[in-house]
Amino acid sequence: MIRVAVAGAAGRMGQAVVAAVEGAEDMVLTGQADPALGTTLADVLGDADVVVDFTQPDTALGNALECVEAGVHVVIGTSGFDLEPLKSARGANVFFAPNFAISAVLMMKFAAEASQHMAKAEIIELHHDKKLDAPSGTAARTAQLMEGDVPIHSVRLPGLLAHQEVILGDVAQSLTIRQDSYGRESFMPGVLLAIRRVGELEESPVVGLEHLLF
Ligand SMILES: NC(=O)c1ccc[n+]([C@@H]2O[C@H](COP(=O)([O-])OP(=O)(O)OC[C@H]3O[C@@H](n4cnc5c(N)ncnc54)[C@H](O)[C@@H]3O)[C@@H](O)[C@H]2O)c1
Repeated sequence: MIRVAVAGAAGRMGQAVVAAVEGAEDMVLTGQADPALGTTLADVLGDADVVVDFTQPDTALGNALECVEAGVHVVIGTSGFDLEPLKSARGANVFFAPNFAISAVLMMKFAAEASQHMAKAEIIELHHDKKLDAPSGTAARTAQLMEGDVPIHSVRLPGLLAHQEVILGDVAQSLTIRQDSYGRESFMPGVLLAIRRVGELEESPVVGLEHLLF
């Protein structure tokens, strides 16, 4: 059994991860850290093999460094922070995915390929209005994987969850690749896969679910 603690357990994503871990036959939920629950990461680290972090842009890096120093692997979904300091962190593995949905991973892969054949591209990313960072981690990662300079436009509106369009243009033609997450369950198979695999990574940090899927 993999012992899993969730950081940000009271949040929208954290609650979905708690339910997914409780439903997984090869995992046991050992801790829930969140100021809203009156528990800190330090309270739950001792009982965990893996911590899953869905917190905030300003807390994810500190949490990840604390996990690695304690020898606990960490799976990060929080976006909008710089991963650079984690490159020199040794003691446990770090896995980060800007998007844990398989359809989003495929969208990024197809967009990267299409950008090698089309003249220009722009990204429109659309999220719910409680999202703290812009542009989204998914849009930033998509642009990084594509050829050329790809501008990103961010939309924040109630009613939306997580959506992205990559629009590519060339002479008298365009191609639109669109991905939609309609519920937070869309991210859970990817999160569970990362929990199962983070302990056996040969390098750290690893960025992107594609490294576990393909
Ligand atoms: N990678 C993905 O696939 C993916 C998908 C959806 C959302 N996200 C990202 O996940 C993050 C969380 O999103 P959300 O909608 O659940 O946010 P949320 O605001 O609902 O939840 C964040 C939770 O973190 C808690 N928190 C704050 N500081 C903490 C700390 N130091 N330790 C533990 N918990 C702490 C807050 O109290 C809150 O309950 C965001 O960065 C969002 O962009 C990533």
